[in-house]
Amino acid sequence: MKTRVAIFVLLIVALLVTACQPGAAGGGTIKIAILAPLSGPVPTFGVSTRDGALLAIEEANAKGGVLGKKIEAIVADSQCTPDPAVNAMNKVIEQDKVHYVVGEVCSKASIPISEIAEKNKVVMISPTSTNPTVTLNADGSTKKYVFRACFIDPFQGTVMAKFALSKGYKTAFILFDQGNDYVRGLAEFFEKAFTENGGQIVGKETYTAQDTDFSAILTKVAESKAEVLFVPDYYNIVNLVGAQAKEKGVTAVMMGGDGWDSADLDKNAANGGFFSNHYSPEDTRPIVQQWVANYQKKYNSVPDALATLGYDATNLLIAAIEKAGVDDPTKVAEAMEKLEYEAVSGKVTFDAQHNPIKSAVVLAVKDGKVSFAASVAP
Ligand code: PHE
Repeated sequence: MKTRVAIFVLLIVALLVTACQPGAAGGGTIKIAILAPLSGPVPTFGVSTRDGALLAIEEANAKGGVLGKKIEAIVADSQCTPDPAVNAMNKVIEQDKVHYVVGEVCSKASIPISEIAEKNKVVMISPTSTNPTVTLNADGSTKKYVFRACFIDPFQGTVMAKFALSKGYKTAFILFDQGNDYVRGLAEFFEKAFTENGGQIVGKETYTAQDTDFSAILTKVAESKAEVLFVPDYYNIVNLVGAQAKEKGVTAVMMGGDGWDSADLDKNAANGGFFSNHYSPEDTRPIVQQWVANYQKKYNSVPDALATLGYDATNLLIAAIEKAGVDDPTKVAEAMEKLEYEAVSGKVTFDAQHNPIKSAVVLAVKDGKVSFAASVAP
């Protein structure tokens, strides 16, 4: 009798365990991990990305989830930094057993975790990492399981170079962090496009992520009489450089890329500057206005590009799972390659490198406000 009870109990346990496995028929959830820099140098990036992604999951669950299952969000803090990002990625794969990851935000964190995604056959979509190598293997081939929801830096660099030239500026000085893949790449792509289109780079200086005093290199910028100061870093660095440049009497117009996008960008330090970005809340397309209204209702703030791309990336992933019809990352990656999706930040189809081809906007920082200045198609 005792053995019978024991066998019965074992059977029940086995049934429960199977039912909780992702992909098991009739039960369980589909887990999506969100790897975002909630702490570290750029916390607004993490909070916005997480909030956008969670809203997409909430909306999908309200409509019944995906493949008839509820979606479970697993949020991990990846700090915009390689080691914590790798730890977070290993944790969500090994402990939480996720098959799908939205993240990371920063290219320098997305590059190492993309290799883990590829090795473990886990589908990863970075909402915002713009460095080309995120989706590429060392030999230049495309990582099968890795995608992104944003345009890439050769385009973004060209947008800002042409924008600067269109304003009549012919000379530029570039400041960049050699140790940051995104910053280094964008500096290089800007330089290439600026010089190829008739501009001249009159100076180039590097710093490290730990630097807080930029006075020595800003003296060189002032002396160079450059018309443009290109600083393609994140808002935390731009705030320091911008404030110190004003103290040094630098008259060059500051320009940069999507990394400036933050509620914590110091609009005095960046006053008079311009940066490229993925979307503008002033865009009048109904899909954008609907999104801005929904986000505002939920979070009481206007979504930045990170929130928008966090939302878009999560929706792309959900659409690919639905299209694949099965919780199988290999099938989902194949479905994602062929997806056509109307995202808030623009219509998405993926090229051979798993990059969407999308427009960019240029935003102006003026008198304490950030506003739309131009839209540039690829
Ligand atoms: N493009 C940046 C990177 O690759 C991340 C970023 C995107 C930051 C959008 C702000 C806004 O590191």
